[in-house]
Amino acid sequence: MTVSVDVTEEVPELVKSAEALFAEDAGSHDPRMDLGWPAREGAAYYQDLVEDENALCLLARSDGAVAGHLIGRLLPVSSLRPGAVRAVLESMRVAAERRREGVGEALVAAFVAWAKERGANELAVQAYANNEGALAFYRAQGFEPFEVRLGRAV
Ligand SMILES: CC(C)(COP(=O)(O)OP(=O)(O)OC[C@H]1O[C@@H](n2cnc3c(N)ncnc32)[C@H](O)[C@@H]1OP(=O)(O)O)[C@@H](O)C(=O)NCCC(=O)NCCS
Repeated sequence: MTVSVDVTEEVPELVKSAEALFAEDAGSHDPRMDLGWPAREGAAYYQDLVEDENALCLLARSDGAVAGHLIGRLLPVSSLRPGAVRAVLESMRVAAERRREGVGEALVAAFVAWAKERGANELAVQAYANNEGALAFYRAQGFEPFEVRLGRAV
């Protein structure tokens, strides 16, 4: 398994992996999400990201095929929390046939190293409250609940 970083020629594969994530994750947890967004807007969005020095775009490969992706961002320091240098894990997915082989762990390890190099002192990620697999995975990577977003229908 290899993890490659910010390779412009790989943007179409990044878009495909993001499309699959939207379909699987938002598709089963958020009926209001626009599942057509990656196909429509993804190419421009991820092209900008690979050129952004405060963003990280990772693609993992196994025998040449895409095994997963991770998108990270370093956020500007907020005057409300001046001591916090926060990096956000914005999106990640491992191909269904490659799960529980350590691909996700390798992607997160590369994200942690990237964030540390840039001076981050805290990492954040959001997941749907009923995405139990993702929550168990993030806990296994050392993440713990910090803020909890509550919602209700009106
Ligand atoms: C969540 C996800 C990225 C994990 O990737 P992965 O490559 O399968 O994870 P790893 O093999 O590195 O797992 C490392 C450890 O995390 C935990 N873990 C991973 N997936 C888990 C699951 N479904 N249930 C419980 N624990 C899990 C385990 O402790 C695992 O170690 P083990 O296999 O030795 O028990 C992957 O399941 C996925 O893409 N899911 C669908 C998309 C998604 O939910 N993305 C996150 C959106 S917020």
